[in-house]
Amino acid sequence: MILVTGGAGYIGSHTCVELLNAGKDVVVLDNFSNSSRTSLERVQQICRKRLAVVDGDIRDQTMVEKVLNEFGCTAVIHFAGLKSVFDSVTSPLDYYDNNVIGTHRLLRAMQASHVKRIIFSSSATVYGDPKFLPYTEDHPLKPVNPYGQTKFVVEEMLRDLSASDSTWSIGILRYFNPIGAHESGLIGEDPKGVPNNLLPFVAQVAVGRRDRLNVFGGDYDTPDGTGVRDYIHVVDLAQGHVAALASLEQPACIAVNLGTGRGYSVLEVVKAFENASGKPVPYEIRPRRSGDIASCYAATDRAEKYLGGWRAKRNLETMCKDHWRWQSQNPNGYDG
Ligand code: NAD
Ligand code: WQD
Repeated sequence: MILVTGGAGYIGSHTCVELLNAGKDVVVLDNFSNSSRTSLERVQQICRKRLAVVDGDIRDQTMVEKVLNEFGCTAVIHFAGLKSVFDSVTSPLDYYDNNVIGTHRLLRAMQASHVKRIIFSSSATVYGDPKFLPYTEDHPLKPVNPYGQTKFVVEEMLRDLSASDSTWSIGILRYFNPIGAHESGLIGEDPKGVPNNLLPFVAQVAVGRRDRLNVFGGDYDTPDGTGVRDYIHVVDLAQGHVAALASLEQPACIAVNLGTGRGYSVLEVVKAFENASGKPVPYEIRPRRSGDIASCYAATDRAEKYLGGWRAKRNLETMCKDHWRWQSQNPNGYDG
């Protein structure tokens, strides 16, 4: 039995699909602070299999211990957390509380229950300004915002834990920019309020919920002047977790990038989305967004080496097509 914290969220729900399809039993623990119960109904509809759901908070150590013991969990995939860079700057204590204290309580509960296998959702944001590209896993870690700091602190906590007790198996997965949706169009990203991230914003423009995209910066040192990112299909990302679970049979603590290794500019994404959707995406070049960097993409060799040959397979066209299918079938998200 695998405990998936934050399993109702964007990446968690797609990972539940891949886990169920791989024949795993799953229990989701989520407080639904940034997700809908409907996502988990859809996961079960896609897989025609059941999963268990517990409505609770990872900071409730006693409850987490009870869940680990009652369900006989052997590993945890830990997605639960807050993820907005913008909110983390205005409410840093909420971010340290949820992400750092939350993970600390979860690890305590795991230790007490003798469950010592965890996969943690980290982020490329831990690298900070690039000293070189692509980012290899041994690039210096220097996050530039509170959200990134919380991911860095948790990574350090995990490395210290592994150094103190070599029986832990710890996979730290550093995601680049996940986009897209399950090919069924039944699950996808459903941000609350105005989206901070590019793809949900572009998709909401295409579906008519917003007038135009603001492109943050047209004067970067990139081929067309707009920011370049390593977008990865969320299903590839989810499959990376199943691969990581299998390759984490042996005790270790390892950080691995999950990206494609290839960057696309904002304008390339806009064009690809217009092609995939058949809808125009009007945009305006605006000033740079504070804290943004010009380019960000992953070195992928370590993932291929340590995740049993896993690599991202889906291209930008598929990412946009799948994102659009989800958006057009669910124009107002799960509960709209
Ligand atoms: P999401 O917000 O869709 O999912 C997170 C889930 O965790 C939600 O269902 C939320 O309700 C739940 N949650 C939050 N705090 C909780 C708590 N204290 N107890 C129980 N449940 C709680 O986010 P996502 O995009 O699926 O991201 C999943 C993880 O991956 C996060 O840790 C995020 O920081 C990390 N990550 C995301 C991205 C990205 O671009 N989406 C990139 C890098 C890393
Ligand atoms: C991508 C590009 C923007 C919105 C963030 C987090 C990172 C990770 C993934 C969690 C940039 C441009 C965006 C818009 C735009 N999340 N853009 N107009 O900033 O690379 O990464 O999400 O861990 O930690 O920082 O992703 O999607 O916000 O931006 O022009 O309305 O799109 O400037 O070049 P980012 P993003």
